[in-house]
Parts: sequence; structure tokens; C-alpha cells
Amino acid sequence: MMDYITSFLNLPFPLLVLSTTIFFVFIVKLLSSKSVKNLPPGPPKLPIIGNLHQVGDKPHVAAADFAKQYGPLISFKLGKQCLVVASSTEAAREILKTQDRFLSSRVVPTAFQQEGLIPHSLIWSDCNQTWKTLRTMCRTEMFSAKALGSQSRLREEKVGQMLDFLHKKQGHVVSTEDIVFTTLFNTLTSIIFGQDFLDLKDEHGTLDGLKESIHKIIEYGGRVKDFGAFFPVLDRFDLQGIRRGTAKLYKKTFVYWRPIIEKRRAQVNSSTWSSDQAESFLDRMLENGFSNDQIDQVVTELFVAGTNTTTSSVVWAMTELVKHKEVVSKIVEEMEREIKTDRITHSQLSNLPYLQATIKEAMRLHPPVPLLLPHKAAETCEVMNYTIPKDAKILVNLWAMGRDPKIWDDPLSFKPERFIGSKLDYKGQDFELLPFGSGRRMCPGLPSGMMSVELVLASLIHEFDWVLPNGGDPLKIDMNDKFGIALRRENPLKLIFKEK
Ligand code: HEM
Repeated sequence: MMDYITSFLNLPFPLLVLSTTIFFVFIVKLLSSKSVKNLPPGPPKLPIIGNLHQVGDKPHVAAADFAKQYGPLISFKLGKQCLVVASSTEAAREILKTQDRFLSSRVVPTAFQQEGLIPHSLIWSDCNQTWKTLRTMCRTEMFSAKALGSQSRLREEKVGQMLDFLHKKQGHVVSTEDIVFTTLFNTLTSIIFGQDFLDLKDEHGTLDGLKESIHKIIEYGGRVKDFGAFFPVLDRFDLQGIRRGTAKLYKKTFVYWRPIIEKRRAQVNSSTWSSDQAESFLDRMLENGFSNDQIDQVVTELFVAGTNTTTSSVVWAMTELVKHKEVVSKIVEEMEREIKTDRITHSQLSNLPYLQATIKEAMRLHPPVPLLLPHKAAETCEVMNYTIPKDAKILVNLWAMGRDPKIWDDPLSFKPERFIGSKLDYKGQDFELLPFGSGRRMCPGLPSGMMSVELVLASLIHEFDWVLPNGGDPLKIDMNDKFGIALRRENPLKLIFKEK
């Protein structure tokens, strides 16, 4: 250390002055922040790092602990980034309804700040014209009642492939997360491109690397420690390689569908093309004149938003069911009354209210996107009489709300009965239960996601008994979670599926 100081002091005078000035400018930039009066309360902040040392790898848990101490609307700082987190029904309603207009922009994670792509983003655009056009298009071409109706055969086919695969795998231990992810990913690629991209037999996704790349993109996007975001002076250097790493994976991933796009583009542009020949979402994008960059961006976003959220919903519900045999018995009774066919179809799902209550209960305790996707304040505004400064990152802690004794009786118990005879739903009107968010940024994929979750779960219960490997004790099952874009299990749920 002394050597460094001595050699520093021995620098020629002009260089010494220049280095000292740069050093002080850097420190002043780090320290300077316009202090905002009347911010929501929160833990005391250290200079430069703010509350970085208190957040760890589980921001949903850290924010829930802060809320217990400082109230339902809190603020804290990660480096220069100001965060505001809501953890009550009232605070969520003010953010997602009353002030939705001012609080619906996005903070873009470093991974997704990719030059050339962000102008075509649905998830990461502010509420501008691009966002409106893309949302409208997804709503009409993918998530409308008509679109869902025409996807139902395809969805049943993909779930059927999963069931056939598991019947052959009897007696073997399988990772449920891998099987469910592959099934839901193939459902989405079939809707978008008209074909499967993954193979159920390739459980670990190592055959061609696509599954691995998608998982890594999701992992980069959900990084909690994102120093470029905390310290904007460091952002351009991408010191953790998050932006560069994601860019490389994007390139690798886009290669998979480029030939399909080129082939379909030639068909759509041919003089014999008519709209009723459109078979997939890709054909609709091409008809609307989408460039390759636009298609790459929208498709990657649908994969990121639509596969690990649905997988997480199914896997957490299965975890709770492994622990709660009495709940499984009630679902089975309901199925014996209502289902008279070998395989379950979409049209039968509405006859299974106890199954639906079970899914709601699993989403209450394990919301797949525990803090919503990060919103940003486009303008300074007031929430619960506190000031929310422009550019603050806004989160709603669904995980804390789902476990709050002020909202739920006996919140840590898994009791689907609480939703039987209750009008509480997850469609964005009831601020106690918001797994899909609410307001302008609410998940547009809700109908499609729920159809998949219900069909996969119902089918697995209908056709199999589930057993933990090595006579594992269901009551001791590991419930640890891992924060990311979706809240996953820390360790995979391994099960043996036995034919009924
Ligand atoms: C059970 C499954 C799902 C859950 C729990 C879920 C949940 C969410 C949540 C919480 C948000 C953020 C809302 C906010 O920031 O306020 C979101 C956004 C989004 N979701 Fe989903 N989602 C699911 C399935 C899907 C599916 C299947 C798709 C598409 C195939 C999809 C596409 C999107 C998109 C595009 C957005 C961004 C919307 C915007 O920024 O305007 N989601 N989702």
C-alpha cells in the first residue's frame, strides 16, 4: 500500500493534479444525490453503497423484513438506485391503479440493454407506441378467446407427449422442472413457429444448447447483484460481463429460428399468399411487416416471460401437493366425479374448482414473479402521502403480501379451502392476490399461462401417483427458493411418477 502511495506522490506534478481531480470527481459523483424530501421510510443508508450490504440474494425476503420495521411503503438505496417497495393491499392499489399512469415505465436490467433490440421491446419499453402496438398484437393473435381456442388442441398434444414420456419413465427419478419446462417451451414454440424446439429425452438440455442458452439469458436478466445499475458511472464498463454475456447468448439463440423465419417470409411475400394460410404467430408478425430484429426481440421476450413463470407455478404447486396428501385426495375425488375420459381436455378444467383453488393457494405463497417486473416512476408523484421521485424503481412485494397475517388467516398454512366460495381472483381486480400484476403492465399472457398450468397439473394428478426418491419424507421437503425473473426452487423437485 505504502509503495502505491509513494509512487503516486512521485508522479510528475501535472499528472498528480489530474489524477487527484479525477479521483475526487468520481467520489463526489458517487456521493452526490439530490436528497428528496418526504421519501417513504426505510433503513438508514451507508454512504456510496446505501443498503447494498443488507439485501443479499433474496430481495423479496429483505424487503419483507424492512416492511415489518418501517411499514407498507418503504424506500431504500442500492448504490445510486432508489427503490420503493409496496407490501400492502392499499400501497399496491395506489401504485398499480391510482398512480398507474406515472408508475408504469420500466427499469431495464443490464442484461436486456441490448443496442438495436430495445426499440422493439414489449416488456422493457416505456408505455409508448411500440409497447401499445405489440401488446395489442399479442392480445389479439395469441391471447384472445379465438386464438386460445385454436391453440387448445396443440396444448393438449404437447401435454400428451409429456404424459407418454412419463409413462415410459416409470420407476425412474425425473426432474419435474426440466420436464415441465420442455413441455411448456415446446407449446410456445409450436404456437409461435409451428414446431418443437426441445426434446423431452434430452432432460438436461445439453444436446443442442438451446435450453441452456435460454436458462442463462433468464439467469442474467434476473441477477440481483447488477453493479452497473447501482453505480451508473460504472455501467458502460459492464464489469460483470452481464450485457456482453447476454448479447452472445442472444446471437446463439436467434440462429435457431432464422431459417424458419426466412422460409416463412418467402411464403408470406409470395403473390399466392392469403391471410387464411397463416398458421402461426410468426406468420402474423410477417404479415405485419416485422423485421428480423423485431421478431427476435418479441420471441425472446415471450420465451423469457412465458416459460419459467408457468414452470415455476406448476412446480411450486406440485411441491405443496407432495407435502399435503389430503389436498391431493380432494382433487382426486373431484376428478373421479367430473372426469370420465382417460386424458383430461381443456373443456373439462372449468369443472375442477378445488384444483383451481389449489393453484391460487400455491401462487399466494409462491408468487412466480415475487416483486413484479421492475416499474419506474416516469414523473415524481405521491403515494400514501409520500413522494416517489422520478426514475425511482418501484416494486410490489407479492411474496410479503401473500404471507401477511393482516391479509390472510393463518398465512403460512397451505389451505386451498380459503378460496372455495370466495370471489377473490388473480385477474388484477383484487389487490390481495396479484400474481399477474394489475393495471397497464399487467401480464397479457394470463389466459394462456393459466390454461397451461391447469392442464399440466390436472393431467399429472389424473394419471400418476408421485413419490419422492429413496423413501424421502414429504414433510421434510426442501422449500428454499431462488430469486430471479421467476422464483424457482433452489433445488430441483425430483420425483418418481407411478401409473395409477
Ligand atoms: C403463470 C404464468 C405467468 C405469471 C405468474 C406471469 C406473471 C407476470 C407478471 C407479474 C408480470 C409483470 C407485471 C408488472 O410488471 O406489473 C408479467 C408481465 C408479462 N408477461 Fe407474464 N406471467 C405468466 C405467463 C406469461 C405467459 C405465458 C406469457 C406469454 C407467452 C407472458 C407474457 C408477459 C409479458 C409480455 C409481460 C410484459 C407486459 C408489459 O410489460 O406490458 N406471461 N407476467
